[in-house]
Amino acid sequence: MVKLNDEMQKALSGLLFLATASKDGIPNVAPMGANIVVDDETLIISDNFMKKTIANIKENPVVAINVADCRACSLQFKGKAEYVVEGEYFELTKKWMAEKMPNIKPKGAVVIKFFEIYSVKPGDDAGKLLETDD
Ligand SMILES: Cc1cc2nc3c(=O)[nH]c(=O)nc-3n(C[C@H](O)[C@H](O)[C@H](O)COP(=O)(O)O)c2cc1C
Repeated sequence: MVKLNDEMQKALSGLLFLATASKDGIPNVAPMGANIVVDDETLIISDNFMKKTIANIKENPVVAINVADCRACSLQFKGKAEYVVEGEYFELTKKWMAEKMPNIKPKGAVVIKFFEIYSVKPGDDAGKLLETDD
């Protein structure tokens, strides 16, 4: 898995767009804000209202992310997601949500580890692979 530097961790802690796809390749994208950077290789997103997103992840774990503040962080993240409804990561999510958004009870948590990071900055390096775990 690739390591997330401080800039990446900060960006992923803010509003982001999570793209998933069904096993038949039907894409889906949704905004997500309940994002917890656990360490330099793990992002959790609290499942508060997700529908197609979770159905897709159960069929196809590969996800892509752009952060909303893409002028400050012009990166495209590719990762593998796992959906959990118990265990360490879900406990952490419930605690985080109880502190930040106490009126919303999470249904589960999407745990993402990243395998590639690309530049989306306009110019010569647009689309360039910056980090890979190969
Ligand atoms: C600014 C913003 C932040 C959001 N953050 C989350 C979130 O962290 N977790 C969540 O489950 N839904 C969140 N949502 C709601 C989802 O984007 C929404 O339920 C969407 O329908 C999910 O896509 P899906 O139904 O295709 O799975 C957010 C929506 C907005 C507008």
